[in-house]
Amino acid sequence: MVGFGWSMQGMREAMVLVFVAIWSSSKATSTWWRGDSDEAWDNCLSWRLGVEANNIRAWRTVPPECSAHVEAYMVRGQYQRDVALIVDTICAYIDSIDLSSDGLDAWILDVDDTCISNLFYYSGKRYGCEPFDPVGFKTWALSAKCSAIPDVLRLFVKLIAKGFKVFLVTGRDEDTLGQATIRNLHAQGFFAYHRLILRSGAYKGQSAIVYKSTVRKQLAEEGFRIWGNVGDQWSDLQGEYTGNRTFKLPNPMYNIP
Ligand SMILES: *[C@@H]1O[C@H](CO)[C@@H](O)[C@H](O)[C@H]1NC(C)=O
Ligand SMILES: [Mg+2]
Repeated sequence: MVGFGWSMQGMREAMVLVFVAIWSSSKATSTWWRGDSDEAWDNCLSWRLGVEANNIRAWRTVPPECSAHVEAYMVRGQYQRDVALIVDTICAYIDSIDLSSDGLDAWILDVDDTCISNLFYYSGKRYGCEPFDPVGFKTWALSAKCSAIPDVLRLFVKLIAKGFKVFLVTGRDEDTLGQATIRNLHAQGFFAYHRLILRSGAYKGQSAIVYKSTVRKQLAEEGFRIWGNVGDQWSDLQGEYTGNRTFKLPNPMYNIP
C-alpha cells in the first residue's frame, strides 16, 4: 500500500527506531556508580555477581581492572543498600518465628565484614587486588578499629530483643585476637551476645567450613536450634548444621575458602 498513511510495516519500524533511540540514550546516562557505557566496568559487574552467587570459586584476589569498580560498589552506597535489603528480609523472617520458652532458640553471626567492617583496611589493599597479608591484617585487627556495619547492628539488636541466643562465630585466632575482638565488638555496640566463639588451638589449620560446621554441631548437641546464620563468606554458610536459613552478605574484596 502506498499513500500518506503509515503502513503497518512502517509503523512497526518506526516504533523499533524510537525504542532503540530511547534505549541507547538511557544507556549513555551515567548512574550513581558508573560513568558512560564501559565494557570493562560491566565485566567487573559480571565478575562480582559471579562471586556473590558462588559461581566463581577459590578466587584469591580481585582482578586488577576491577579495583575501582569494587571501591565504587563498597563506598558509594550500593553495598549498604544491598546489606539493608538483606537485613530487612531477615527481619521479616524473624517476625515469623515463634520462640519457645526453653531459651534454646539460637542465631549465628559471623564477625568480620558481617558485624564489623574491614573496609578501611582493604582500602589500603586496593580493595582486595593485593594478596592477603596475614601480618598486616593481624595488626589491623589488634588495633580494634573495625566499625560496625549499621544494618547488621540493627539486626543484632532485634535478635537480642526478641530473645535469641546470639552466637558470634569467627575464624579469628582466639589466643592472639580474642581480647582485641571483644574490645572492638563492645566499642561498636555489640553487647549481650550469648557467646563469642573464636578459633582455638584445636581448630588451627582447619578450613573455615570444617571449623564452623564443628562449632555449629556442638551448639546443636547442646540443644540449640539454629534458626538463622549470617555471613559474608560462603564458607560461613556451607557444611553441616548450617541453620534453618542462611543469609549471604556481599563481600567482593576477599574470599575465605
Ligand atoms: C529447622 O531445621 C531443623 C533441622 O534441620 C528441622 O528439624 C526443623 O524442622 C526446621 N524448622 C523449621 C521451622 O523449618
Ligand atoms: Mg566474615
